[in-house]
Amino acid sequence: MDTILVGQGDTVDQNDLLISLSAFVPPARPINPPSPAAFDEAEEASRRWTSKREGPWRLGSEAHKQEVCRMFRETFNPYRPSVIAWPALSAEERKRVTGLPIWDIAVQTEGKARLSFAAYGMSVADPDIRAAIMLNAWEENRHKEVLSKLVEAYGIPLVEEPPFELPRDREWAFLVTGYSECIDSFFAFGLFDLARQSGFFPAELVETFEPVVQEECRHILLFANLLAWHRANLPWWRRLHFELRIAAVWAYIAWQRIGLARTLDTAEDTSADKNFTVNNASAVSQGDLRLRDLLAICLRENDRRFEGYDRRLVRPTTVPKLVRLALRLTGPWARFKHRPEVRSETPL
Ligand SMILES: [Fe+2]
Ligand SMILES: [Fe+2]
Repeated sequence: MDTILVGQGDTVDQNDLLISLSAFVPPARPINPPSPAAFDEAEEASRRWTSKREGPWRLGSEAHKQEVCRMFRETFNPYRPSVIAWPALSAEERKRVTGLPIWDIAVQTEGKARLSFAAYGMSVADPDIRAAIMLNAWEENRHKEVLSKLVEAYGIPLVEEPPFELPRDREWAFLVTGYSECIDSFFAFGLFDLARQSGFFPAELVETFEPVVQEECRHILLFANLLAWHRANLPWWRRLHFELRIAAVWAYIAWQRIGLARTLDTAEDTSADKNFTVNNASAVSQGDLRLRDLLAICLRENDRRFEGYDRRLVRPTTVPKLVRLALRLTGPWARFKHRPEVRSETPL
């Protein structure tokens, strides 16, 4: 059985990648703005999918590969950024949205992700997997377009994007991008729900962004299954090497994020982007929020977003497992800290 992860070595030019992305043909999309009913139907189709194949399939089998690629194709949502009607915001809403310090980092992250996925996708020999990864890259490009349109519509100033150099090792870039998406999406699911509940984002804007957030769920579902498929097809000695590589990827991501946190802590410019997650949680919830509450919301939303996909597909598990563990370990301390005050029983 063939495995997918190749593509180390030859460098790839950014312009070639962007040309490949613009030449990539996604599943058919409507030309005109869809009717509200068609929009709802596409939305529903993107979050619920069960394979017509009966019975279980073995991880790493041809059936597993075909079904995960089919899931990705059939859950494609054909919304078009160019026809999104950006809702009018009140002065207060506009101030809140434009003041959220995430837009620069969001636009840049989507830009990098599209290039990493496209570079890797182009190096994959298997046509089904290649098409799925290229569609993923195309969707990242669409996320960048959506964000660019939002930024334009609400007059959000952006800093100039730093040049992005693709690493020579395309597999490494794919793994770093995929695992980073697993982390970011987990927290984004919770933050998005907080922003919805608190009214930080007006309802129309939540609706506009909903397909983008669900799309990230599809992306990490695809990533988790491609990895599971690949792992299952490796002989033990290559598997060992691959697991060491995955450990190095996690270490690299941790190092990258510690570096980002340090830079932001020491940044003199207070408008600098801050970490997407905890720093912004209190802002979007418009009140004080305990870290444990945020984690619980993220877990709940993570489960909800994956709920509609075929149970035979594997889910990303590392981040939810770590968060569950953190909640369990800190539970006794949280109960102690927030225990009801004990009144003195001493008679006067
Ligand atoms: Fe994205
Ligand atoms: Fe993504």
